[in-house]
Amino acid sequence: MQDLIQQAAQAVRSARRTIALTGAGISAESGIPTFRDPGGLWDRYDPEEYATIEAFQRNPGKVWTMMRDFTQLKTAKPNPGHFGLAQLEQMGLLHCIITQNVDNLHQAAGSRDVIEFHGNMRQVVCLSCRKVLPLDEISLATLPPYCGCGGVFKPAGVFFGEPIPPHALYRSQEEAQSCDLMLVIGTSAVVYPAAAMPRLAKEAGARVIEINPEHTDLTGWVSDFIIPEKAGIAIPQIIAAIKAMAS
Ligand code: OAD
Repeated sequence: MQDLIQQAAQAVRSARRTIALTGAGISAESGIPTFRDPGGLWDRYDPEEYATIEAFQRNPGKVWTMMRDFTQLKTAKPNPGHFGLAQLEQMGLLHCIITQNVDNLHQAAGSRDVIEFHGNMRQVVCLSCRKVLPLDEISLATLPPYCGCGGVFKPAGVFFGEPIPPHALYRSQEEAQSCDLMLVIGTSAVVYPAAAMPRLAKEAGARVIEINPEHTDLTGWVSDFIIPEKAGIAIPQIIAAIKAMAS
């Protein structure tokens, strides 16, 4: 393991432009369940019933009730994995983060350049007039919440069947194609188009390093190697190794 940490540290130190793609796994150590691990969200909630735009339109009250009860999103705090990426950005060693997460924990840890590929849950959007409001500004006393125009408010996170926010998609593609190192952290890399970003980076000549206790669809062909460790352990170790190399 230490050998892989050293290799990753060397790669980050020598890269011209490093970016990170993160998924639910980086927030697992903050107490937020992932989607596809055993006991994950999709074991408890059928995505067909809760995570598609059709399901939301069919029964917005039911989906909102699940979201309101999902209190971890409000109380979770960043963990050493999030703080480590923020530190790498401050050190000038990480250009930006593309995250599939909607939990705001990268920003809470201090990361400044975060592309929210799947939107976020801090805001709501009216499905009729497309007005966007902070979640804090609407009442969830009766569900679903309605906009003044009579339309239903939806959490601003991307549901299956909805497009990726165009600016997030275009910028992510650009960043993937112009980086020379991509760290792929805590994602099973099965949901597209996010999962295409490491492939785009690889095709454009970048190195791809995964941090994930489990192998993924990328392991062994898209990624150069995988550090089979939790993000909250591996990322601080990589930073310690970079500092040791510099001194
Ligand atoms: P998944 O639940 O599919 O994958 C989580 C990954 O994190 C797995 O590969 C785990 O092995 C890994 N993991 C678990 N604990 C970890 C830790 N402590 N450190 C590092 N890795 C760890 O979650 P995502 O890949 O993020 O989209 O899922 C992608 C998308 O599917 C989500 O954004 C969401 C979901 O459906 C939408 O809802 C649109």
